[in-house]
Amino acid sequence: MFGDLAEPPVDPILGLAQMLARDTNIDKVDLGIGIYHDEWGRAPVLKCVKDAERWLLETQSSKRYLSSAGNADFNLRTRELLFGTGSDAFDRSRALQTPGGTGALRVASDLLKRLRPEGRVFIPGPTWPNHPGVLKASGHELVVYPYYDQATATLTFGAMMDALADLKADDTLLLHGCCHNPSGADLNLDQWRTIASLVAAKGSAVLVDLAYLGLGDGLDEDSAGLRLLASALPELIVASSYSKNFALYRERVGALTVVGATEKAAALAHSHSIPVVRTLYSMPPDHGAAIVARILEDGELRRGWEAELAVMRERINAMRAQLAARLAAQSGRDYSFIARQRGMFTMLGISPPMVEILRSDHHIHLTSSGRINVAGLNTQNVERVADAIAAVNLL
Ligand code: LMR
Repeated sequence: MFGDLAEPPVDPILGLAQMLARDTNIDKVDLGIGIYHDEWGRAPVLKCVKDAERWLLETQSSKRYLSSAGNADFNLRTRELLFGTGSDAFDRSRALQTPGGTGALRVASDLLKRLRPEGRVFIPGPTWPNHPGVLKASGHELVVYPYYDQATATLTFGAMMDALADLKADDTLLLHGCCHNPSGADLNLDQWRTIASLVAAKGSAVLVDLAYLGLGDGLDEDSAGLRLLASALPELIVASSYSKNFALYRERVGALTVVGATEKAAALAHSHSIPVVRTLYSMPPDHGAAIVARILEDGELRRGWEAELAVMRERINAMRAQLAARLAAQSGRDYSFIARQRGMFTMLGISPPMVEILRSDHHIHLTSSGRINVAGLNTQNVERVADAIAAVNLL
């Protein structure tokens, strides 16, 4: 059964790890997978996480099963973080802890397939390379809508709205809540409003992928589009991740949050998610979610987290500005889009052969789509990286 199998395709992001490990150059630069690196190139455990883990170790008295919905405190704090305590959307929502943001996406995807079996899912072009795989695994037909043009480094909102005119009531629209992956180009509030009106008129479902909350402009700023949708639409589905903003990558902490027209509708959507979870993985692992719940409910830990998050965000944005300035100086081209965009990623607009030259000649590792993780830059390597990109672009 196994011996004649062909090699499966290499994952465009996770597959980079092997190439990076094989590169023995001591100055190699990792701009591949979306992990936050500090100024010294480390990806450390946050102090607030260490403190919460210590508290958990001392106080946790049992490892008995929780439920398919996971940690109840975490689910409550997730709704508060997304919509703000006491908001109408908070009251009309229910959350369910999942194994990472990917787990949330897959549960949402399976739930949508059960509720709207004929519906298609509209995804942005470009998008996170794992989106199509997760959605297709549930049997969805996908439609790609134009979102970002690499040649002009602009969001193609007009073309996006033209494509979304084809949405039917049974379809689902997938949007990135903030820090679009891979482009870094986000919708402004007017654009969120226009989308909300269109979707309200069509009656389509909306699934928001929120994996980088707090890493763009701030917690409130980054959730503004999501909150606008939640107040304008009767129903909404949110897949959120705590991998990046709590640096809890390997702990797999995420949440699926459903907003209903009424509290009762949200409770029904939540209860229909439970059998999906039960058949996929029964229940999520607790450790990471217990840490997040503790940090979000303890005043001092929460302040500590927000301060650590601000350090990450400000360093990413400083690197964006430095990279854009150096690239412009070295190439004579306009790279100001890099400084304007938000989150971990930007697209250099270079071809796979150019990416290969960066890897082989300059020991700079990035995905073959030309996406770089800006959080892999630091004051020691940013000029070298910019100079290499400018040189490759002039070939
Ligand atoms: C990324 O896009 O690099 C991250 O979201 C990591 C992943 O799982 O792909």
